[in-house]
Amino acid sequence: MTGKQTFTMIKPDAMANGDMGNIIQAITDAGFKCKALKLTQLQLNQAEAFYEIHNERPFYNDLCDFMSSGPIIAAILEKDNAVEDFRKLIGATDPLKADENTIRNRWGTSLSYNAVHGSDSDENAIRESNFFFSEIERLQ
Ligand code: CMP
Repeated sequence: MTGKQTFTMIKPDAMANGDMGNIIQAITDAGFKCKALKLTQLQLNQAEAFYEIHNERPFYNDLCDFMSSGPIIAAILEKDNAVEDFRKLIGATDPLKADENTIRNRWGTSLSYNAVHGSDSDENAIRESNFFFSEIERLQ
């Protein structure tokens, strides 16, 4: 499935703001199919493990606190060129720099509260999908 799948989370800010439905609609309108989806809340140690690639960065502790602060939606999405197309759909990490009509521009409010996560490579899409979903939780 390399190249055809990516992984996303709708983050606690967007969930608390009631934007879950609109964000899922925007994702499906853009041609992505959900192959797995769950509502959950990360424990702090789980957020630390998920974002361990950033553990030397100054924002790491705040990021992990925030990502474990409330419910999230995790999903595996399928489309040709999934990683790159999804990153275009969500826009730049900082919502203030994200193009108009991107998900982060519409529903994110700051670099930390940027509404959604999207995998940045096929390799990370696989790692991140495996972090959240077992085989039985995925559509083939
Ligand atoms: P995400 O795509 O989930 O990957 C790492 C997250 O760290 C990123 O989105 C941002 O929400 C968050 N973050 C917080 N501060 C920074 C920063 N200074 N630079 C990059 N990412 C940051």
